Amino acid sequence: METTPCDLRWPAGGATRVPYRVFSDPAIYQMEQEKIFRGPIWHYLCLTVEVKNPGDIRTTWIGDTPIIVTRDENGELHGMVNRCAHKGALVCLKERDNKKSLTCVYHAWNYKLDGQLRGVAFQKGVKGKGGMPEDFDVSKHRLQPIRVSVVAGIVFGTFSDEAPPLEEFLGDRITAFLKRNMDHPLKILGTHSQMIHNNWKLYAENVRDSYHATLLHTFYTTFKVNRLDMDGGIILSEKKWHHISYSKRATLDAAAEYTSAEVHSAKYSSELDGPQLLQAWDGFDDQITHSIQTIFPTLVSQLTLNSLAVRFVVPRGVDKTELYWVFLGYETDTPEQEKMRVMQANLTGAAGLVALEDGCINSFVQRGTRGSDDKASFIEMGGKLAESNESSRATEAAVRGFWHGYQTIMGFHE
Ligand code: FES
Ligand SMILES: [Fe+2]
Repeated sequence: METTPCDLRWPAGGATRVPYRVFSDPAIYQMEQEKIFRGPIWHYLCLTVEVKNPGDIRTTWIGDTPIIVTRDENGELHGMVNRCAHKGALVCLKERDNKKSLTCVYHAWNYKLDGQLRGVAFQKGVKGKGGMPEDFDVSKHRLQPIRVSVVAGIVFGTFSDEAPPLEEFLGDRITAFLKRNMDHPLKILGTHSQMIHNNWKLYAENVRDSYHATLLHTFYTTFKVNRLDMDGGIILSEKKWHHISYSKRATLDAAAEYTSAEVHSAKYSSELDGPQLLQAWDGFDDQITHSIQTIFPTLVSQLTLNSLAVRFVVPRGVDKTELYWVFLGYETDTPEQEKMRVMQANLTGAAGLVALEDGCINSFVQRGTRGSDDKASFIEMGGKLAESNESSRATEAAVRGFWHGYQTIMGFHE
């Protein structure tokens, strides 16, 4: 079912201008569900470590649509819509579960772990009366399947037969960096979620905005976690939709400080009461100590010092978004390393300053742009193009990359 095409005309300037209407128009939200969430795009579903054993079940969403991921008795992964083939009720109600089969609570239709219907209650009626018609065929009713594919322990899914193979969708450098961080035996250290009061695309934009990090997040600057005067760069995928932003803490020239006019509240003389928060070990030989990686449209993978996490957002309406965090370690970590990862989760998690500030600033944009459907943002830091830049992160290149992808997939033209 096609939604009504939207009459939005993109302002001149391509990805350097974003019409504020895209953050508040319910018709655009509906169109995104069709073109992006049910379109030829791979979406984050869960981690393989969450569906490790036969019978494991994980529920999630692609856009508004509830999804089930299962591992069957043969070890195979399946993805399907969490919508009973009878009258549409949710079939799986828990976030995580382990079962031999899936049963809908409404009228007890029962499905195999791959979503095939096994049988329905009262198929032959009761005492010879009632029941399904003669031509009822269980093989004709099943949970709607979706395609699934795995890279670096991450399960992706798509509704579309036209989505290219997953690694092609990600591109070489994005795939390689995901593997650098995630292709290890993963262990979940904790999860949480927070409701943020903004359109989902403001979060997508915010995590690609590398130059706000040292201005808004003064903690980063003050305690030298991430600063724009460290070596680092921005890598955009071939199609520009995904990105990696990285920095190298050891390259910071401690003598060269930002001027206070540029960075309004960094207090270099500050000291932490608990300096162990910032103790970290070098896990890789490329000197990268902070990285944020995005996969279009809603996935983020972070490795800040040793704090490894995936974050993903689920749109909950035009001005509400649920942000999920999964904090990770490796099975091979020592107890000491695990403790350090948990401690460092405070750098960014919901209780940390960074997540708090980002949640807040996105809602400021949501509120600030209200009533300005005919106005647009201005995104020209670092130039007008969406290109990799491995010598500076004072650029909005990755933000332009996101909007370039968004315009392309939504079919919005100037
Ligand atoms: S809605 Fe699921 S069995 Fe009726
Ligand atoms: Fe931020």
